Amino acid sequence: MRISVIGCGYLGAVHAACMAKLGHQVVGIDVDENKIAALSSAKAPFYEPGLDTLLQSVQETGRLAFTTDMAAAAGSDVHFICVGTPQKKGENGADMTYVNAALIDLLPFLAPGNVVVGKSTVPVGTAARLAELVTDHQPDAHLVWNPEFLREGHAVSDTLQPDRFVYGVNDGSEEHPAVQVLDEVYASPLGAGAPRLVMDLPTAELVKTAANSFLATKISFINAMAELCDAAGADVTHLAEAIGMDDRIGRKFLQAGIGFGGGCLPKDIRAFMARAGELGADQALTFLREVDAINMRRRTRVVELTRELCGNSLLGKRLTVLGAAFKPESDDVRDSPALSIAAQLQLQGAVVTVTDPKALENAALRFPELQYVQDPERAVRNAEAILLLTEWQEYRDLDPHLLKESMATPRILDGRNVLDPAKWRAAGWHYRGLGRP
Ligand code: UGA
Repeated sequence: MRISVIGCGYLGAVHAACMAKLGHQVVGIDVDENKIAALSSAKAPFYEPGLDTLLQSVQETGRLAFTTDMAAAAGSDVHFICVGTPQKKGENGADMTYVNAALIDLLPFLAPGNVVVGKSTVPVGTAARLAELVTDHQPDAHLVWNPEFLREGHAVSDTLQPDRFVYGVNDGSEEHPAVQVLDEVYASPLGAGAPRLVMDLPTAELVKTAANSFLATKISFINAMAELCDAAGADVTHLAEAIGMDDRIGRKFLQAGIGFGGGCLPKDIRAFMARAGELGADQALTFLREVDAINMRRRTRVVELTRELCGNSLLGKRLTVLGAAFKPESDDVRDSPALSIAAQLQLQGAVVTVTDPKALENAALRFPELQYVQDPERAVRNAEAILLLTEWQEYRDLDPHLLKESMATPRILDGRNVLDPAKWRAAGWHYRGLGRP
């Protein structure tokens, strides 16, 4: 099929490459010239495992092109809207500028029978509004809401082998003509057994925000338990392991630590609360305020623990933060808890050096006041304490004996609870985890 993908960020660039991989003829469109230049030479404009290789292999087939010109959408059968919906400045709600602009710019190029597919995470009610714009302009075109559930760091496999497809159509019916078109787009993963659910537009939009809210709630739940474990002298890692064995609960997303960040969970729960307020249903989501508060409290807790670890003063202390990205296998620093903690420590008088395998360039743009050192060995040299804040595999694998030799004082705060305390203590370290004695 001929496909256009509008918006080539984390979502769109991966989606465009994956659609070409599935055999479609794809054009990716974005207003950012630098992004388009990188993608056109088969380079991902951000770090995502497997994406560079995928871009190279599909571009060799001639099935994938990138441009800044929306007119290139003309002639496509299916148009995916993949632009961002960031948090509005100073408000909880989502900024819909990019989604609205993408659709308005696309309208002149729609032909009868075309299907516009919304993938961006939007406030419920958006799809119905956009569907009307589409049919006002081109009565024989359709709009489907097809939320995306990919995780950064696993974006390619999540797109090619998703847990499920959700199609929202205005009548909620399997017979809707757009259903067949999307089935053709996703023929290969559907054939491999991926489940597919058809529902009405608002339900499809809500599936996405509900899923992210549930994940955020699960993380804040275990972090609340970590607070309690700290107070009671218990160990949250054992607690998580034990409750996670009940398959009604499940072990995933019960990793207590410095909390969630990134470009999705934090802004999605806030936008969800804002939208619930507009719909007069704010009470239903007041618990998300607590989820957010527990999450933000993790960051101040780590600053306090670091102060304790450093003999009750941060002034002039040389600290090294391992990890700047909001999670491993990503160079994304949007709302990164690691960086926010590093900046708070610096504000309180510590001298902070940050290292990360992939995210330093992005980190330096956001927090130019911090010191960045790419080489981890050099970054930890002569430090008075280390904070492991993003659990890259290379940090999990650190050898406490070797590392100790570089340190002024062997103190470590394990902000992700991924190290073995017994091993580090046996090597002579003062080890501190979160919610562990
Ligand atoms: C999240 C969702 O997991 C995806 O399904 C969704 O498609 C995506 O948002 C989106 O809306 O686009 P992502 O932001 O890539 O994906 O990251 P997650 O893997 O969900 O992790 C989010 C944060 O939670 C990270 O900072 C991570 O370190 C933290 N986390 C995760 C924990 O603190 N504990 C855990 O147990 C799990």
